[in-house]
Amino acid sequence: MEELEIIVTQDGSHSVLSHRFGVSYHSRYGAIQESRHVFLEAGLFTVAPGLRKVDLLEIGFGTGLNALLTYAEAAERKWTIQYEAVEGYPLELEQALSLNYPERLQVPELKSVYEHMHRQPWGERREIAPFFALNKRKELFERLHYPDPAFDLIYFDAFAPNAQPELWDMPVLERMAQALRPGGVLVTYCAKGSFKRNLRSLGFTIEALPGPPGKREMTRGVLKDG
Ligand SMILES: C[S@@+](CC[C@H](N)C(=O)[O-])C[C@H]1O[C@@H](n2cnc3c(N)ncnc32)[C@H](O)[C@@H]1O
Repeated sequence: MEELEIIVTQDGSHSVLSHRFGVSYHSRYGAIQESRHVFLEAGLFTVAPGLRKVDLLEIGFGTGLNALLTYAEAAERKWTIQYEAVEGYPLELEQALSLNYPERLQVPELKSVYEHMHRQPWGERREIAPFFALNKRKELFERLHYPDPAFDLIYFDAFAPNAQPELWDMPVLERMAQALRPGGVLVTYCAKGSFKRNLRSLGFTIEALPGPPGKREMTRGVLKDG
């Protein structure tokens, strides 16, 4: 059996099933729908209108769907994005390029953007457009240190706590808090109680928001000033 298998979710967009972790990369109800709801609407759209220039950290680049959707919104709304994405177990290039996101989004330009994102070498910052720079880091997030608060927004999109509990625990969450500027925002699809309590103890104000279809709740944390 292939370790990673492409599946079709209910909104017609692809996702990937990881046999290693026993989970899919996105909701079975719709990958594009979930990404838009959790990371764009609850994250980017609350941060970017005020700042216009956003330093963004993604934990779990995976298929690159969040990056592609973020690019499309930035292009449309004239926001500038510096996108840093960490990925511990990258997809094979061929598999990533066979995913149907550019077609589903029906914006012709996005096909080459998506290809650029995936073909770009790891560990090098590249301008995909004057308003969008991408740096992909092929690392396990828990091995990285971000000692300075350099980000306005974190897309926390690792696998769920039952698949990888260590990523949702204090030592790793502390690194995220250190990486965020005061007032910075962390969004994730997860709504687990212990995770939210951990974030609170690190100085986040927590909002439990309605989740995407199939999920009752998701979480947005805002790091308090000072
Ligand atoms: C839920 S998937 C979402 C991926 C991506 N955001 C997307 O939309 O396709 C989780 C991703 O986190 C990656 N990952 C798992 N553990 C990791 C770790 N310790 N450090 C960095 N990335 C990790 C997985 O390989 C996978 O690509």
